[in-house]
Amino acid sequence: MLATEFDPALIAALQEADKIVVLTGAGVSAESGIPTFRDALTGLWRNFDAQALATPEAFQRDPALVWGWYEWRRARVLAARPNAAHRAIAALAHRVPQLSLITQNVDDLHERAGSRDVRHLHGSLHHPRCFDCGLAFALPEGRPEEPEGGRRLPPPRCPACGGPVRPGVVWFGEAMPRDLLDAAFDACASSDLLIVVGTSGVVYPVAELPAVAKRAGRRVVQVNLAPSELDRVCSWNLRGEAGKVLPALFGNAF
Ligand code: OAD
Repeated sequence: MLATEFDPALIAALQEADKIVVLTGAGVSAESGIPTFRDALTGLWRNFDAQALATPEAFQRDPALVWGWYEWRRARVLAARPNAAHRAIAALAHRVPQLSLITQNVDDLHERAGSRDVRHLHGSLHHPRCFDCGLAFALPEGRPEEPEGGRRLPPPRCPACGGPVRPGVVWFGEAMPRDLLDAAFDACASSDLLIVVGTSGVVYPVAELPAVAKRAGRRVVQVNLAPSELDRVCSWNLRGEAGKVLPALFGNAF
């Protein structure tokens, strides 16, 4: 996409905004080599469904399978580096009076690109806790262990109660922290511009945020490789890789 192709009204909206909210999904980390949820899983995990592994029931049924899957993802994240999209969002925070960054991602690539106060609505791979008593568990330094046979890895035990340690992410069927969600809804409803990047917009309640902004009369711009459920809510739909579109867009505006 050429920088000159951006709608001047979008550039003006960026320049005039006092409060910008950026909402990201798995697509923002795709160019760092982290597979999205809608991608077919590859390699060792090709016969598994990422959604089916992301439930409390799946963990209770087979903790080693689910822990092995999350440790595999955490190993990929630790080996990955932030990409141009993460960096462009971190730099944007220095160009606008107020920027809130809300993500569905459980990786730490936004932080490693320099973003501060990232609101992780779906939790984090890096903050596991006990499944039974909820006590935070300190992961050992360095790369995760290689799962036995390539996949299954028994979770560590909680030092306080002996329960199995679970990933610190929000699973299907679980509620996300109320205060975080309320703050996200408030931020979107009061933003001057919401920038939605790399999310399919199918997992609720986060998928509701762009509509909340629109109903409050706010403008919404989406960056996505492909059409998404959010297209009809957005004033602008920019098709392309986030790592190319965001630097071009922000470079054009500032
Ligand atoms: P998805 O995997 O559902 O969607 C990724 C989106 O990113 C798709 O719309 C792609 O078209 C787009 N995309 C891929 N590569 C891109 C790129 N380089 N640049 C721009 N866009 C790109 O991921 P999410 O919407 O984040 O929840 O998924 C939402 C939630 O569903 C996740 O947080 C997770 C998952 O199940 C839980 O685990 C609770």
